Amino acid sequence: MIKVNIDGCKSFVKDADYGKYLKKALDAFDVLDSEKGAGNDFLGWKTLPVDIPESLIVECEAIRDNWAAKKVDLVVVIGIGGSYLGARCALEALSHGFIRKEGVPQIVFAGSNLSEEYLAELMDLAAIRNVACVVISKSGTTTEPAVAFRIVKEYIEKTYGKAEAAERIVAVTDAARGALKTLATQEGYKTFVVPDNVGGRYSVLTPVGLLPIVLGGFDIRAMLKGAADEREALLVKSEDNAAVKYAAMRNLLYSELGKKIEVLVTFNPKFQYLGEWWKQLYGESEGKDLKGIFPASVVCTTDLHSMGQFIQEGDRVMFETTVTVENSNRELVIGSDEQNLDQLNYLAGQRVEHCNAMAQLGTKLAHIDGDVPQLEVSIERINEYNLGAIFYFFEFACGVSAYTLGVNPFNQPGVEAYKKNMFALLRKPGYEAQTEEILKRI
Ligand code: PA5
Repeated sequence: MIKVNIDGCKSFVKDADYGKYLKKALDAFDVLDSEKGAGNDFLGWKTLPVDIPESLIVECEAIRDNWAAKKVDLVVVIGIGGSYLGARCALEALSHGFIRKEGVPQIVFAGSNLSEEYLAELMDLAAIRNVACVVISKSGTTTEPAVAFRIVKEYIEKTYGKAEAAERIVAVTDAARGALKTLATQEGYKTFVVPDNVGGRYSVLTPVGLLPIVLGGFDIRAMLKGAADEREALLVKSEDNAAVKYAAMRNLLYSELGKKIEVLVTFNPKFQYLGEWWKQLYGESEGKDLKGIFPASVVCTTDLHSMGQFIQEGDRVMFETTVTVENSNRELVIGSDEQNLDQLNYLAGQRVEHCNAMAQLGTKLAHIDGDVPQLEVSIERINEYNLGAIFYFFEFACGVSAYTLGVNPFNQPGVEAYKKNMFALLRKPGYEAQTEEILKRI
């Protein structure tokens, strides 16, 4: 289960204020629980851990096995925002950092930027590998993945022929709407559905996340079980509810102490993309109506050598939430050296993870001294079960927190603004008037 520790905030806040924000968070819990709040047509994520049918898992595994039979060794997963961050987070967390598992394809991501160099280099890789593709877009109309898919699709069709391409391309999209759905139907691609009532950033436990995770060789049954068990725990309304505690404290720090930035900290580089996934979840859910905590992330100890100075002594606008991994999955002991020229013999016999844990504790105390309140979210170790739990925890806590803040957690009206300008500048048909306007501004 996910544990939340707020002790590192205690010296910054008054008990009475925490009590006040606990009450607000408990009221917000009721709003989420009763499903009567703003955005309540996007609450499908709440029951995903218990709703995903075994048949869907089997379908994902059938794609994996079919591609394994073809000796596919590179799967290009195309998507952006909520249509790739969850899968990327899970795959980075669960995979060996350097060695690919025997018989498991390399998973690479495209469509999350419009960089020509990125895509051209990815196609260089495709040219020397045996390729399949998963294209993911809930709306089916997002430009970045659409551009990447046009290029990857053309390559696969040219290389393997049109009939075989239909075997090597899978689409994850809306049940009925959007250009990708139309294209997939026409080309005869196997298609998975993103439920209508699940927004992009809450979709990791739909085929959006589950299919790439299965293709990467991981156990989504365990992930869904972890999420289901965490859901059970979070359904209990109480002051000790982990999501309520997290939502109460972060809103208190924001509203009463002016801590406008939350930095998600990890001491395990495998969780770098947990930070990326979490930033979208909280940024898109809370940053609206001129409100919201700005979500940032760092990987330590790496970033203590770059961002550490600012966190310790810069503008006092932030608090930190450290995701603690209690147990490492590996064991590596530091040896003794007769000459001790590096003067590290005082660590001989210690595990590397002991040094990491002491660095984490030392950082926490230093940052408390530097006026940076410390929240802590803990999991026992990195595995599928605990990842499912942490995904569900952060989603549920986000709903509670955004309602505590007084915003709709499930819309994202602000993400359209850049698209209108980009379409006008690209002279997309239908944007002629905006093109005229925007050309006057540049
Ligand atoms: O959270 C969101 O809705 C967005 O960030 C989307 O995930 C992102 O824009 C991708 O959208 P789509 O899946 O429709 O291509």
